[in-house]
Amino acid sequence: MTEQINEISDYLRYATLSRVDRLREYLIYVAWSQALIATLGSLFLSEVMGFIPCNLCWYQRILMYPLVVIIGIGILLRDRRVQYYVLPLSLFGLGIGLYHSLLYYGLIPETLQPCTAGVPCSTRWIEWFGFVGIPFAAFTAFTVITLAVIWHKPSDDEEMNQTETSSQVSNQRWLKWASAALIAVYVGIVVVGLASRISENARLTETSSETTADEFTIATTVAPVALSTTPYPENFILTGQRVYLSQCSACHGQNAQGVTNLGLPLVNTEFMQERSDNDLLEFIRAGRHPSDPQSQTGMMMPGSGGNPALTDTEVLAVIAYLRSLTP
Ligand code: HEC
Repeated sequence: MTEQINEISDYLRYATLSRVDRLREYLIYVAWSQALIATLGSLFLSEVMGFIPCNLCWYQRILMYPLVVIIGIGILLRDRRVQYYVLPLSLFGLGIGLYHSLLYYGLIPETLQPCTAGVPCSTRWIEWFGFVGIPFAAFTAFTVITLAVIWHKPSDDEEMNQTETSSQVSNQRWLKWASAALIAVYVGIVVVGLASRISENARLTETSSETTADEFTIATTVAPVALSTTPYPENFILTGQRVYLSQCSACHGQNAQGVTNLGLPLVNTEFMQERSDNDLLEFIRAGRHPSDPQSQTGMMMPGSGGNPALTDTEVLAVIAYLRSLTP
């Protein structure tokens, strides 16, 4: 009797295991769909939404786009070794995605960025749920592809479905450890992202209640007339210059003279002269979408220059700095 029960339970375990194994055949399609979604999504964001890819984004695109073709060919040829040519790309992408995410959430200081040329890598073009930006989405895609590919088991693996050899058992153990590590890193990034945005919001509410300070009143009450004799306090202009150089200069140029195929000039332009400081503040906060009838370049001016953590005072200081550049 006990023997029969044992036999039945063994059989059940075998049956469920092999069903799980069957599902593993399809993981290669999961990897392929994920690569396709990431590729189309990234093309949509740059070509339709007008977002400008940063340097790290380009490296990740270089690694992601070929995966659609490579995994696709692997599927067509039913190549059992597909993971060997997918993993080098996906793991490299995972590494860059990790670095980019840490930088995006402010754990790696700005000075270490390889993004000193071109668009800042920490630009927040969009953010869902308060912390899911483009770097996080890319990191998710590389994680999903890597996990799917290492767990994928080709369907013609007949001998594998029979008895498990000891090397397969140790292989399984290795897979479990690697997956646990990947998932732990992923959860770590989620925690870091949430923590960074929560602490930033707390800091913002704190400063905004403090900023009825003199600076703010001075900046907002000064009318934008007689611009050549900028009546802003020098300190305020210097603050503006510091903020400008770190937040706007990558797209608008060191001296706000504009950058070809990127940001427009901001000195001595009609746009700047016609508007009051408060109008400009409102404009810079909102940014300008390429679908805006006012759009001139077809590229996106990200709201708050891509850093919503800037305070109103800081943006007003930038405006004061820009006005002080008017000859
Ligand atoms: C990621 C690149 C980028 C960053 C960073 C950025 N801008 Fe822009 N900005 C643009 C682009 C692109 C345009 C042009 C949009 C268009 O085609 O109309 C623009 C347009 C503008 C305009 C309107 C100019 C006009 O004549 O219509 C102002 C003002 C402006 N930006 C201010 C700022 C300020 C201030 C900052 C820093 C806080 C900043 N921008 C940061 C890309 C950027």
